[in-house]
Amino acid sequence: MIKVLKDFLTHKEISILNEWTDQNHDQNFFQDAEMDIYYPKTRFTTRIVNTNEESISAVVEYPEEAYQIQKRIQQYFNLNNILYPPTFRNGIVNGIGFQNGSICKHSDPMYYENTITVHCNFITQKPVAGGVTIIEDHEYDIEEGDMLMYAVSELNHEVTPIVGTKPRILWCYGFCLNLEKAKEIFK
Ligand SMILES: [Fe+2]
Repeated sequence: MIKVLKDFLTHKEISILNEWTDQNHDQNFFQDAEMDIYYPKTRFTTRIVNTNEESISAVVEYPEEAYQIQKRIQQYFNLNNILYPPTFRNGIVNGIGFQNGSICKHSDPMYYENTITVHCNFITQKPVAGGVTIIEDHEYDIEEGDMLMYAVSELNHEVTPIVGTKPRILWCYGFCLNLEKAKEIFK
């Protein structure tokens, strides 16, 4: 249940998204993801850490282009009546990772019964080295603008430590898909 689509984003979209992250990651709607026990404060995300923080997340307003990309994903896979992960603001999470930051091995929750949680991930800024996604022990070293789509509730995944001072910027689109739809997409 893994799929890679090359060059899903345009160069213009990539630069708009990165600029938005550069300008906003110091705001309080970015919080420490706490996914690296050895290097705290190396990754910040707009994902709601717990429900008490919903009010903080509610002030996030992503750029229009972020929503256009979401629409394009939904059209591409013919996704209708979509449920988004409840911890995502309008189905979207933005993250920024700094030097040494990694994400330990985990799988994500299934939020609704009989669904599979799927993430469509885009690295819009690649670090000099590292920051590579590993799914079930296989590396997926995608390029800026490529889409890495996979069933995060079914597959263990982790991200290797970021090397160098250039941060890794990730845009994640989450979908809670029913089993038939997931099967159709990953067949
Ligand atoms: Fe995850």
